[in-house]
Amino acid sequence: MDQEQRLQSGAFISAEDSDENNLRPQFLKDFVGQSKLKENLSVFIQASKKRGDSLDHIFFSGPPGLGKTTLSGIIANELGVKFRSTSAPALEKQGDLAAILTTIGQNNVFFIDEIHRLRPAVEEILYTAMEDFEIDVIIGQGPGARTIKIPIQPFTLIGATTKAGMVSSPLYSRFGITNTLEFYSFEESEQIIHRSADILQAPVEKGAAEILAKCARGTPRVANRLLRRMRDFAQVWGDGRITKAIVAQGLEALEIDKEGLDRVDRKILEVIIQRYDGGPVGSETLAISISEAADTLEDVYEPYLIQKGFIKRTPRGRMVTSLAYKHLGIKGGPHEDQGLLF
Ligand SMILES: Nc1ncnc2c1ncn2[C@@H]1O[C@H](COP(=O)(O)OP(=O)(O)OP(=O)(O)O)[C@@H](O)[C@H]1O
Ligand SMILES: [Mg+2]
Repeated sequence: MDQEQRLQSGAFISAEDSDENNLRPQFLKDFVGQSKLKENLSVFIQASKKRGDSLDHIFFSGPPGLGKTTLSGIIANELGVKFRSTSAPALEKQGDLAAILTTIGQNNVFFIDEIHRLRPAVEEILYTAMEDFEIDVIIGQGPGARTIKIPIQPFTLIGATTKAGMVSSPLYSRFGITNTLEFYSFEESEQIIHRSADILQAPVEKGAAEILAKCARGTPRVANRLLRRMRDFAQVWGDGRITKAIVAQGLEALEIDKEGLDRVDRKILEVIIQRYDGGPVGSETLAISISEAADTLEDVYEPYLIQKGFIKRTPRGRMVTSLAYKHLGIKGGPHEDQGLLF
């Protein structure tokens, strides 16, 4: 649920939520990293403003917390238009989507999160809306029913998902700009931590920010979350300054190791090694073994473990690599590596 939805649903907004909102960059210049994507977007935004057209529809995919929602809001700000946002599961009926599309202002941005979860009937309405800026509405019932076309204002649809593979190809093909957000580098993570620390007015030592950046899993949301926890530790254990000593103690308290792996990450690796002899093991079976939802395993944990080279996906399932054995200090290793001895 994003901030707007929370506001709409009247849900309680915690201090953490409002912090998250303050930390969200509002313009491209404040958005750290993803430089190629930013450069391209900047050109497309300027071009559409010059022409006075709506910007082409945009599709963002990538693991959670990399900035898909943030970037979508930034695009609306840079275009100087209104940002309307919803999530696919909230669009239950065709009418829910039609109600939004018929009231959206000219060239405004309409953001649909979790777009892979659109119902097929609702998705169908999007096709003509995206392509021709009109929607087909059925009037009446039975033999007397007829379809009328209702024109809508040109708009920019931004769809975001952590599961690009689950988006249907007719929908995917209607996006003119498609992009997968990448994990952030160490330097970028460090920059995000310093930026957020300034906003939160939490003094952080350079060495401390470096350690946090290393543990941030290349993910801005994780970087910000770690920073906020360290701010708590610094306020209670120290004088408010986030020092290297506070960070070392804080990470230990949170059971986060020097590669940024938490208890669940390590459990995943241990289970594959100890129960499945290093793998391969299917993701459903693995998820049950660690008592996590398969979705959480695939979206939150695996991408980082794969990126760090601790596990790999094979057609027969997940396997740990020799790096994982080394990291956990467990003797042995994958069979294929041992095979190299011969
Ligand atoms: N490039 C960036 N620079 C600085 N801060 C960032 C950047 N990207 C994201 N953030 C911060 O990280 C937080 C998470 O980003 P965001 O909510 O946009 O991720 P998301 O990709 O939409 O995640 P999800 O898939 O869970 O919806 C934001 O609140 C924002 O403060
Ligand atoms: Mg999001």
